[in-house]
Amino acid sequence: MESDKVEAGAGVSDSEASAIKIKETKQNSIADVTTLDIKSRLSLETTTEARSSEPHVNGVAQMNGICDSPQRTADVADLSLQSGTMETSHLNQHEQVETLAAESKDNDIQYVSYTSELQMPDIMKLIQKDLSEPYSIYTYRYFIHNWPKLCFLAMHGDECVGAIVCKLDIHRKVIKRGYIAMLAVDVKYRKRKIGSNLVRRAIQAMVEDDADEVVLETEITNRPALRLYENLGFVRDKRLFRYYLNGVDALRLKLWLR
Ligand SMILES: CC(C)(COP(=O)(O)OP(=O)(O)OC[C@H]1O[C@@H](n2cnc3c(N)ncnc32)[C@H](O)[C@@H]1OP(=O)(O)O)[C@@H](O)C(=O)NCCC(=O)NCCS
Repeated sequence: MESDKVEAGAGVSDSEASAIKIKETKQNSIADVTTLDIKSRLSLETTTEARSSEPHVNGVAQMNGICDSPQRTADVADLSLQSGTMETSHLNQHEQVETLAAESKDNDIQYVSYTSELQMPDIMKLIQKDLSEPYSIYTYRYFIHNWPKLCFLAMHGDECVGAIVCKLDIHRKVIKRGYIAMLAVDVKYRKRKIGSNLVRRAIQAMVEDDADEVVLETEITNRPALRLYENLGFVRDKRLFRYYLNGVDALRLKLWLR
């Protein structure tokens, strides 16, 4: 699907071909630098990941685990609340050191990838606590079975205390867009950077899969989520009127990776 790249050499002169080559080399190095910038901003290289094959669990959480609202229609209005550039660094060196310190303080928390349907009940249980009406297992399966590498769990021993569920596909035929569908942290474990760490891991997996951008929706009133995402460099892109069934507006947040 993603074949917008010009094939150098097809029907062009030698000088045109070398010009294209130089341009491509430049573009590649720009992309590399940008990716590096994103990696350092999100502390992507600093995370240590424990992978376990079969976490078993129970989890508890509170409100709004679903960022997505697939069955709802919404009036979309451009808001242009903020302008975002790749150069805007939301995590300076000092903050990155603090992030590392927070992660090592939380070394009782292990971050694992989704590996088995056996984890599904724990993920659902955790996220459903935050919903006024539960999503069916098919909604979870749609995301998790199609993009298992974009689902992560935070484990405290055998207990699932956080989960993130995402997808990554082609948007408008050209943009590889990551989407954070669900995120929840057990109420007893909040404000320990577990949510931020889950989002970082998901973004890292998207970067590895060549994502161009990441988006999500969250209630305009959800201050913890807004703070979490804006700390990581997301900007407010659109306001979606009455997006949620409770009538609350959503904000679409976006992070540009290139
Ligand atoms: C949003 C949520 C995932 C955050 O998880 P978390 O592990 O507590 O988040 P973190 O510890 O990484 O905190 C991230 C930032 O949010 C801030 N924050 C967390 N809870 C907050 C609260 N209740 N009020 C204000 N800020 C809050 C933190 O202080 C931190 O910002 P800081 O670094 O500037 O201090 C969690 O509150 C949750 O599960 N909420 C219900 C589900 C939900 O809303 N999901 C998001 C759907 S898009």
